[in-house]
Amino acid sequence: MAVLVTGGAGYIGSHTLVELLEASIDVVVVDNYSNSKPEALNRVKRITGKDVTFYEVDLLDEKGMEAVFKKHDIEAVIHFAGLKAVGESVALPLSYYHNNITGSLILFKLMNQYGVKKLVFSSSATVYGLSNLSPLIEDLPLSTTNPYGTTKWMIEKILEDIYQADPTWQIVLLRYFNPIGAHESGLIGEDPSGIPNNLMPYVTQVGIGKRKQLGIFGKDYDTPDGTGVRDYIHVVDLAKGHLSALAYTTTQQGIEAINLGTGKGHSVLEVIKTFEKANDVKIPYTFMDRRPGDIGTCYADVSKAKELLGWEAKRSLEDMCRDAWRWQSMYPEDYVND
Ligand code: NAD
Ligand code: WQD
Repeated sequence: MAVLVTGGAGYIGSHTLVELLEASIDVVVVDNYSNSKPEALNRVKRITGKDVTFYEVDLLDEKGMEAVFKKHDIEAVIHFAGLKAVGESVALPLSYYHNNITGSLILFKLMNQYGVKKLVFSSSATVYGLSNLSPLIEDLPLSTTNPYGTTKWMIEKILEDIYQADPTWQIVLLRYFNPIGAHESGLIGEDPSGIPNNLMPYVTQVGIGKRKQLGIFGKDYDTPDGTGVRDYIHVVDLAKGHLSALAYTTTQQGIEAINLGTGKGHSVLEVIKTFEKANDVKIPYTFMDRRPGDIGTCYADVSKAKELLGWEAKRSLEDMCRDAWRWQSMYPEDYVND
């Protein structure tokens, strides 16, 4: 019996593989390396001392995916694979809908066909839209502002319909807030291509001298210091949340959306200050206009995760900053060749 992990070579997937292997859970990984590298899986082996069964296959390749279901006795799926860049999704909606929705439909069809009905799906806090107030609780009305977010919302809806038609499915929709940081070994972490869209990789690239300064998007939000507030969560805490969700699917039938965050909001300026203090590195910054589509404040109500999964985040913002920096400074240019 094994757990199929789609997108396992990616940022959150690779950290989750470490936790799964360390818990002696058998895994089968599929990834098409569209946003990751084979080296990530070598690093997972190095950290855990365990081999990973891996197939380079695209979710859109139904035959290739079916071969994996045929070959392995799969008991449950953790579904990370998807494209995730908000701005790119606005420019390339068809690619996003095709990759994320069609890829998921093929996966769910094969799961149904092979009687695999336990699923943990990577959703996102982006499904709460712009108008809900924090702390965000799971049963709020959902809305989205870009094709990426809409794919997450649509996949949640598809899974609700699958469950309505067949209540023997056991599905957890994990709504991640802002995952940052890296494994404490420094061997795996976030590896964005090009100019980072997200705050922490931008900060670490300024720290290492790859970029001159950070542009802070807006200083007039209704927040204590005027800069945007988010619920940053250490990627290792997030990874551990998947093990709790997986365990939940083995005991409970149903479909549950569950927030994974810390329940605490931190502003951009607070992140910079904490990073500078934790790592003794200066981060020059300048204020810029608000980024279109951003909201002032976004943080989770985390009581459902605690109640249903018995999980809560343990690591502090300082831990996140220190671990993100260790990863960046071990590999200033390129983690495969440095
Ligand atoms: P990532 O890009 O690092 O990992 C995704 C992996 O999926 C990559 O290795 C990529 O190569 C693979 N992939 C993409 N399309 C595929 C396909 N058609 N077939 C096979 N493999 C494919 O992203 P991540 O940050 O690890 O995110 C994992 C999941 O969590 C994604 O679904 C993402 O939307 C979701 N999520 C991420 C964040 C975040 O801030 N990182 C927040 C909320 C939700
Ligand atoms: C955090 C804060 C910015 C960069 C995004 C996606 C969301 C989810 C997580 C997948 C905000 C500010 C950022 C910079 C800045 N991904 N910022 N300068 O926007 O909360 O969420 O990633 O599901 O869908 O939208 O994260 O890291 O981009 O921004 O000032 O160069 O940092 O304005 O306040 P965000 P982020």
